Amino acid sequence: MATVIHTTDLAVSFDGETPVFEGLNLAIEKGEFVTLVGVSGAGKSTLLRVIADLIPAFRGSVTVDTPDDPGKRPIAMVFQAANLMPWRRVKDNITLGLEGIQVTDAVKRERVAWTLKLVGLDEMAERWPYQLSGGQRQRIGIARALAVDPDILLMDEPFGALDAITRTALQDELLRIWQETGKSVLFVTHDIEEAVYLGDRVLLLGDSPARIVETYTVGIDRTERRESEAFLRQVERVRAGLQAAIETTSTGA
Ligand SMILES: Nc1ncnc2c1ncn2[C@@H]1O[C@H](COP(=O)(O)OP(=O)(O)OP(=O)(O)O)[C@@H](O)[C@H]1O
Ligand SMILES: [Mg+2]
Repeated sequence: MATVIHTTDLAVSFDGETPVFEGLNLAIEKGEFVTLVGVSGAGKSTLLRVIADLIPAFRGSVTVDTPDDPGKRPIAMVFQAANLMPWRRVKDNITLGLEGIQVTDAVKRERVAWTLKLVGLDEMAERWPYQLSGGQRQRIGIARALAVDPDILLMDEPFGALDAITRTALQDELLRIWQETGKSVLFVTHDIEEAVYLGDRVLLLGDSPARIVETYTVGIDRTERRESEAFLRQVERVRAGLQAAIETTSTGA
């Protein structure tokens, strides 16, 4: 399998002195769904931002290996808040990321139709953001990320603000989209069940400066997650790991 994201001894620092995390080695395979949990403030969002090239590496390197295609962007990011532009209709929010890459208006229209269908909101292209529920706005945020046809999706607690029912529905929708499109996903969440439900692997970021302290391979068929004994045991394992990481981090040990 090909590696699409590769970090080598990566460190990020905001003050040019103290690293947020350091010596971080991560490899994500093409088509893999990796979830990332960790202590608050450990650097999960920072890791996504350095991979997306929104902030520079302090030490080490990030390699993103995707084909060069003028009609695509290799990476798209979904943030916790959908951040839709209130003065643009849904369809014009979705095409935001297409401005500046080489696609025709016809392709833009196709991408709007395709992504709205993927997120189950086909009828909403002409609406304004204020006419959507929170969950629908979040889905439009996901549609906007998918519209650039990225090979890699970086998602930072995209369902954090949603009620349990909407969240469950969107998790299943995301898995369906992932299975249909073969994209690679790196997904940050505070919710351990969500991490184990979605991920092929769960990474635990902890310590200070942070590093990946554990990697859990889930290895349970997705149709048997949520309820099975094996699933609940895996959730408990990750929960215990996170608890230990919180204790180590807060005592500064
Ligand atoms: N722009 C910035 N300037 C200075 N420090 C920053 C900046 N962004 C983040 N930090 C610091 O870097 C550390 C990691 O922040 P980050 O947002 O990556 O944590 P996180 O793991 O995503 O936390 P949470 O789970 O609370 O979202 C924190 O100590 C934070 O205060
Ligand atoms: Mg964060």
